[in-house]
Amino acid sequence: MADALLIDCDPGIDDMIALLVACAGPELDLVGVSTVGGNAGLARTTRNARAVLALAGRADIPVAAGAARPLVRSSTGFGAHVHGEDGLGGIDLPTPPGGPDPRHGAAFLADSIRAASRPVTLVAIGPLTNIALLYATFPDAAARLARLVVMGGSVGTGNITRAAEFNIWWDPEAAHRVLTDPGVEVPTTQVTLDLTLRCTLPDAAVARLRAGGPVGARCADALDFYGRAYREQGSGDVTPVHDAIAVLAALRPELIRSRPARVLVDTTTGAERGATTVEAGRAGPVAVADDGDVPALLDEVVRRLSRLDR
Ligand code: BDR
Ligand code: CA
Repeated sequence: MADALLIDCDPGIDDMIALLVACAGPELDLVGVSTVGGNAGLARTTRNARAVLALAGRADIPVAAGAARPLVRSSTGFGAHVHGEDGLGGIDLPTPPGGPDPRHGAAFLADSIRAASRPVTLVAIGPLTNIALLYATFPDAAARLARLVVMGGSVGTGNITRAAEFNIWWDPEAAHRVLTDPGVEVPTTQVTLDLTLRCTLPDAAVARLRAGGPVGARCADALDFYGRAYREQGSGDVTPVHDAIAVLAALRPELIRSRPARVLVDTTTGAERGATTVEAGRAGPVAVADDGDVPALLDEVVRRLSRLDR
């Protein structure tokens, strides 16, 4: 049986793509999802995660809502400029049956790790609030993780401010806890913007998804919205599937290039708030993945999404 996978997310259009890539397997078995505020408010990200799993025919996977706001300082906004007010570009999705798991996301993650009889990988593709709460509140469970993969931060410039990447900027104190001073030993891979910004789906790939069936068509609708939003902001003709690359770093680690580093997070309230500094060659708990086989990664995204329509 494949090892277990948990995903903490804030869907989010690229979170949607990431969840669907994870549902396509087969290397890891997606057993649970927790949600956090970020690209949209918590009620939205939770409903979106449940609707996306229903789209994949996996409404059986439990979804638990976690933190609605950052740990210490309130955020100054959501990600509507890229993902739309509803978080998924206004696309049509099935109504998910039932309701979310009643536990807080961090408690749900802890219970799921403890209950697993196989190694568990956790992939965090939203702000790191739930993961910091997991480390602070349930360190015994966190220490049992085989691996944490984070999408966040950058070696170069940011995307929400000149200096900061969105997930880290939304909750820098949580990111400090997870990336700099975790207090538990969890092998961690940080997939940064430097790699994910290069992983932009060409129009032909989006067209191929649209023609593939109902799942691909929903992805194409969301990606069209997302690409338009990037263009309108002056970012050029790009559709970077950031979060799907973090999931692939868990499923196909050989496609990613990483190096050990000490990662520092700016938690001041100045212009650099949320920026990450990577001190390569310094011992730390993190391997920074800022490079990889971009064509192979993009091919994997499309192949796996297409599998869901067969
Ligand atoms: C990250 O920010 C969010 O808007 C995306 O979903 C992704 O997790 C990219 O900076
Ligand atoms: Ca995300």
